Amino acid sequence: MVLPQSLRLWVGMLVVMLVVELPGALQKCIFDEVQAQVSEVRPAPIHPDSPPNRPRLRPLMGQHTNLRGRRWSPLHGLSVRQRSSLGQGAPPTPASPQPIRIHTWIPRESDNLSEAEKDRLKSAVEEAVRMVSSLLSVNRVVGPLLLSRDINKYCKFLWSNSRTTNYNRCGRANNNYRNETCLDVTIPDDHLAGCDIYPQPDSPRRTVFRPEGAGLPDTDFLLYLHIQSTDKCRAEPSVLAYAVHCQTDTHGRPVAGVVVICRGRLTAATYEHQATVQTVIHELFHALGFSKDLFHTWRDCSSSSQVAAGCFPRGKVIHSDGSGQMRIYSPSVISALQKHLASPDPELAGPLENLDAASGRVSSHWESRVLRGSIMAAVLGDWTTVRIDPVTLAALQDTGWYTVNLSRAQSLVWGDGEGATFGSLSTCRDNSSSFFCTGSGLGCHFLHLHKGECQTDPYLEGCGVFKPLKNASECWIEENTSQSAGDDQSGEILGFDSRCFFSNLTRQVPDQSQSLVVSSSVAGRCYRHRCTGPNRYQIQVSGSEWVACPAGGTIQLKGYQGLVFCPDRRLCLYPDITPPSDDVSTFPVSYTSDPYETLTAAQDGTWSSLRPPTQITVATALCFTAAVCLLAALIVSYSKRGSCRIRIHTVPEAHSSL
Ligand SMILES: *[C@@H]1O[C@H](CO)[C@@H](O)[C@H](O)[C@H]1NC(C)=O
Ligand SMILES: *[C@@H]1O[C@H](CO)[C@@H](O)[C@H](O)[C@H]1NC(C)=O
Ligand SMILES: *[C@@H]1O[C@H](CO)[C@@H](O)[C@H](O)[C@H]1NC(C)=O
Ligand SMILES: *[C@@H]1O[C@H](CO)[C@@H](O)[C@H](O)[C@H]1NC(C)=O
Ligand SMILES: [Zn+2]
Repeated sequence: MVLPQSLRLWVGMLVVMLVVELPGALQKCIFDEVQAQVSEVRPAPIHPDSPPNRPRLRPLMGQHTNLRGRRWSPLHGLSVRQRSSLGQGAPPTPASPQPIRIHTWIPRESDNLSEAEKDRLKSAVEEAVRMVSSLLSVNRVVGPLLLSRDINKYCKFLWSNSRTTNYNRCGRANNNYRNETCLDVTIPDDHLAGCDIYPQPDSPRRTVFRPEGAGLPDTDFLLYLHIQSTDKCRAEPSVLAYAVHCQTDTHGRPVAGVVVICRGRLTAATYEHQATVQTVIHELFHALGFSKDLFHTWRDCSSSSQVAAGCFPRGKVIHSDGSGQMRIYSPSVISALQKHLASPDPELAGPLENLDAASGRVSSHWESRVLRGSIMAAVLGDWTTVRIDPVTLAALQDTGWYTVNLSRAQSLVWGDGEGATFGSLSTCRDNSSSFFCTGSGLGCHFLHLHKGECQTDPYLEGCGVFKPLKNASECWIEENTSQSAGDDQSGEILGFDSRCFFSNLTRQVPDQSQSLVVSSSVAGRCYRHRCTGPNRYQIQVSGSEWVACPAGGTIQLKGYQGLVFCPDRRLCLYPDITPPSDDVSTFPVSYTSDPYETLTAAQDGTWSSLRPPTQITVATALCFTAAVCLLAALIVSYSKRGSCRIRIHTVPEAHSSL
């Protein structure tokens, strides 16, 4: 399709909201805060006071009037119209769900970006879009996707007598009408349906007020990707990105959204590609339905083999449980969480973060204590610890708009098999779960890829988890050896096969008498490991042979005093928990919604050279969609290393990303 020169089109890309995360920092998504500032357009009652007979024009005032029968989504009151190719003919028979096609469009308003920034953005968005397309399938839009114009904006009066032919059609145009916007993006006329004015109440005669745009071919979701230094970005240095959804189709499925990426995030020296990818995915999931503004519009399609066909509204899915925790009660979410926590408790619905929500209100993230490490937690940690988890995919399935390939979910180790009370405020401090810690000791992050330190943060509400150390926490990075706490006494070995173990191993000095044993405190140490079966492994420390480390037990090693604690159900159980390697994505990427080929580009060649994502190290980002989401990063104060309180097998802290 031919687009105006001034427009730049990316095909197969996504929306992003980014937040930079520093080790030890929290990223917070302010999606809901932004969303709250957006007023929602709702269908208005159909002129109840309209006199029966006399044709008359009803003024449209503000944003609370709409045409009957159309669905208006928040922000804009735009609806989507699908235009079947030639407009006529029988509607095509519904096809089976196909991977969602996401087109990314860079609005003109975006700041000029340097080549380096463009490359970063492009590769991150491409990868995120590819991932989402591999997860979600939809009944594809037939013909070009056209967004609707808001009759509240373009029309000054509409015919209000239900007996007239042109009932509810626009009778007088608003001559001040300029364009449609979503968030701060001006939607190109080319993406918009046309609109007509009907000057007479009963005459089919009409005048074209705005012509029909060409629309976007092969598009199921249109992502306006806006890169800018907005006030919101400036207000909070930790905000990476935010997003909103703009329009929904007649089934309520969002078909367009805006993601604003704070430009500063693309230039940061600490930029990390995978963290940005995760942020974009997080934002996309918001825009695609994981949003408190969309929960009530989810549809139940269980009686239908077709997504969106034969479905009916689920109605209210958010309820408070006995303790006041707001949860998503939808069938896939409940069964995913029951399976994850290994509990049949029917109250195990998806818990929502309460920190940023007023009492009794809902947020658009999972409760961090229960679903730590989920891509849809409010806080994403180090990107290597963030998972596209089964509960999040279940939620997307329960929207009714998507067929989700649930087998692509990544292992969410956090809380696995821990029972119904896992993550509650009443149990996180009683040492009943090794995922939580108390005090401020050193240990291991629960995935055992990183050394950690017991910390809490506002989302944890006093519960402690082992978060990765700020510096050189990764056991799998050999180069961290020199920085690792000067501990050649503890027999550490860093490298790709190394994992974190709670240990107080201390090398024995040959000529020292036994009486001189200095007791050392338990901390996280890196040792090599190799799997010998599910939950079975051996370890090797400096100068030692391979020794079996019985899960849940401890071992001693020749030449060392002290013990190594062998974690139970953390190692050699989850094939997808591995250190990142250069050439392998940690995500199940396979389906490609034409990322490289279809990217059309651009005006003056910008964005036109496409390359595979380059691996850049970064910071993390989060985002939300469907409303505006801002992410703020909170730096968590870093506390020390002093006395070690030891809890064996306590490994907390998952992170988000992706
Ligand atoms: C779901 O994903 C798995 C793993 O990538 C793949 O083997 C399978 O074919 C997918 N199923 C569908 C229906 O796409
Ligand atoms: C949990 O363990 C810590 C450290 O061993 C201890 O100080 C604390 O009292 C224990 N808490 C409970 C409730 O047992
Ligand atoms: C982390 O590394 C930086 C630079 O290498 C150093 O200045 C800082 O003191 C280190 N922090 C800790 C906690 O080791
Ligand atoms: C290592 O830790 C264990 C358990 O806390 C303790 O019993 C032992 O004395 C410690 N050993 C040394 C050498 O510190
Ligand atoms: Zn979010």
